[in-house]
Amino acid sequence: IVTTAPSKSENGSGNPRDFVAKMKDGKKRLVIFYGSQTGTAEEYAIRLAKEAKTKFGITSLVCDPEEYDFENLDEVPEDCAVFFVVATYGEGEPTDNAVQLTQNLTDDSFTFGNGEHKLPGLKYVIFSLGNKTYEHYNAIGRSYDAELTKMGAVRIGERGEGDDDKSMEEDYLEWKDAMWEAFATAMNVEEGQGGDTADFTVTELDSHPQEKVYLGELSARALTKTKGIHDAKNPYASPVRNSRELFQLTGDRNCIHVELDIEGSGITYQHGDHVGVWPSNPDAEVDRLLCVLGLYDKKDSVIGIESLDPALAKVPFPVPTTYATVLRHYIDISAVVGRQILGAMSKFAPSPEAEAFLKNLNVDKEEYAAVIGQGCFKLGEILQIAAANDIRVPPTKDNTTPWPIPFDIIVSSIPRLQPRYYSISSSPKLHPTSIHVTAVVLKYQSATNKATQARWVYGVGTNFILNVKFAANGEAAPLMSGTSNTDPATVSMPSYAIQGPRGAHKQETIYKIPIHVRRSTFRLPTNPKSPVIMVGPGTGVAPFRGFVQERVALARRTLDKNGPEALADWGKISLFYGCRKSTEDFLYKDEWPTYTEELRGKFTMHCAFSREPPYKPDGSKIYVQDLIWQDRENIAEAILNGKGYVYICGDAKAMSKAVEEVLSRILGEAKGGSAEVEGAAEMKLLKERSRLMLDVWS
Ligand code: 2AM
Repeated sequence: IVTTAPSKSENGSGNPRDFVAKMKDGKKRLVIFYGSQTGTAEEYAIRLAKEAKTKFGITSLVCDPEEYDFENLDEVPEDCAVFFVVATYGEGEPTDNAVQLTQNLTDDSFTFGNGEHKLPGLKYVIFSLGNKTYEHYNAIGRSYDAELTKMGAVRIGERGEGDDDKSMEEDYLEWKDAMWEAFATAMNVEEGQGGDTADFTVTELDSHPQEKVYLGELSARALTKTKGIHDAKNPYASPVRNSRELFQLTGDRNCIHVELDIEGSGITYQHGDHVGVWPSNPDAEVDRLLCVLGLYDKKDSVIGIESLDPALAKVPFPVPTTYATVLRHYIDISAVVGRQILGAMSKFAPSPEAEAFLKNLNVDKEEYAAVIGQGCFKLGEILQIAAANDIRVPPTKDNTTPWPIPFDIIVSSIPRLQPRYYSISSSPKLHPTSIHVTAVVLKYQSATNKATQARWVYGVGTNFILNVKFAANGEAAPLMSGTSNTDPATVSMPSYAIQGPRGAHKQETIYKIPIHVRRSTFRLPTNPKSPVIMVGPGTGVAPFRGFVQERVALARRTLDKNGPEALADWGKISLFYGCRKSTEDFLYKDEWPTYTEELRGKFTMHCAFSREPPYKPDGSKIYVQDLIWQDRENIAEAILNGKGYVYICGDAKAMSKAVEEVLSRILGEAKGGSAEVEGAAEMKLLKERSRLMLDVWS
């Protein structure tokens, strides 16, 4: 076992990796570890800590497991408990920050201070996060639970399981009350001992040097100018070099290609990696909430925010900053508002009616689902509706009833704005200094319900990218909504991300998008002789553009070195692609033939155009899975005899399921058996050997 932990004798309270010492020093009875990739598990960890404090007056240490060692997990005092709030990621893996913790808990040869792999009597609580559309639903949380029980630890209450696909928030709310009841008994405490204390203090700073105010920078390093690697904690503001529309026929739909310049940043990437893009909230939502909070006139006032208990809640963004910056760049005001937040806000209602309206939504699950869920309401909108303001007219301070909600409550109840991840659509071998992103702009209509008519709802990440594209190309953003004269989807860039015009000879303004790279295992086989089958309809094709470019780069080198026949023994690369019409939304239509040429015909494309002829005999659409079935002989041959690799990217629900089904059928029949038995066994084997890989999203 390799561990970075210091030996026992060094393990005094001065060791920053010793969480038990920290608990004792800070008189914390709870330690809460979160295994979080995108921040959701961390949010729930913080919420649990807050509830322990308000319910029982018990304070917690909320910990990123990456920052601690676990040798002394057996030394957690008897009147204390350990919470695990852990997400399952990818193909049943722990999140990056929980790799060590997972190893320590699940490897029998790892011993604690007691010299054994045992944790007798350790009290623990577990909330596990996953997504039911993936095969290994909540695998990590379940394995922690099983291992801890095996080691003699005692679970408090039931294991909570949240499904990110459908009902994370409801699953959490449903689980937690019974858990807290069991917690009270196990910890011998009573409810009502806590109080509703604030997490932060917010102060307006009268005189503060402007150059020391954060206006959208995502890490403290940005202003202190300390160097450091660029990662999720320190995103890089990358200049947008080439952004364009990919659909031949736009209208209601847009698909954007952007090239993000990483030259000189120290950032590297591989084909198949993901890029995290840090968006900003749309202007209309920022203004709305400023009006609702009565802060519109003070929006650019400089504020300092301090944490009253840094172990429980760190200020989640760099300060000092301004009210408008917090709402625009740092917290997620565009999300569909959570049921619990409504309860917290009801106390500050401007009228008894508004208070009753929010309280009802807070307690009545069905009402909440019908009004908020179906209507896709954001916090600002629902506060306006509760106060009987018309949300269809642009909010101003004169037509909006202010809610006296203290800003520290806003900061502690609304989660931090998180990055959106996209599969990178380039290869570093062809594009070493840029990362390409291919994104369909998300826009849909909410259902008409009791509160309002249907409205347009805009995805935060992709509309941000669309707006950057407009700005970078000097295009006017088209008006996207017929009902208001401000465009609800317009997004302002953070000021630090706009540079220029620079000097007389370079009259251009450069727009930058904050990014970081997340590694993935979605990679081509190293040997080009292995056949490759890629299935990626719609923007699912993104990583495969990178894959094909990767092979093109290798082909150029190989041909250069070994002459024109050098690719003769290479395996076939087949791409199954689908879109609506060959003349409408065929992504990178002009590039593919050049790749086929460069790869000397080793690359072929099979296209399913679902909304143009030919249709199936019964008139239904032809999809990628139908083309796969048509090509079944070659596919079975490539997989079973050629030791080929299969990749699926795109929609996790319908598409990837249907593709897996047809592959099972093909393999089952080729083996002289059925899809359910032989086919399923072959698929399992392929997955275990990493010869069938998925990069899917829902
Ligand atoms: P459709 O919208 O015409 O139904 C990219 O979005 C392509 O994937 C479109 O051609 C879309 O077709 C198609 N698509 C939709 N549902 C699918 C499914 N269940 N399986 C495969 N392709 C699908």
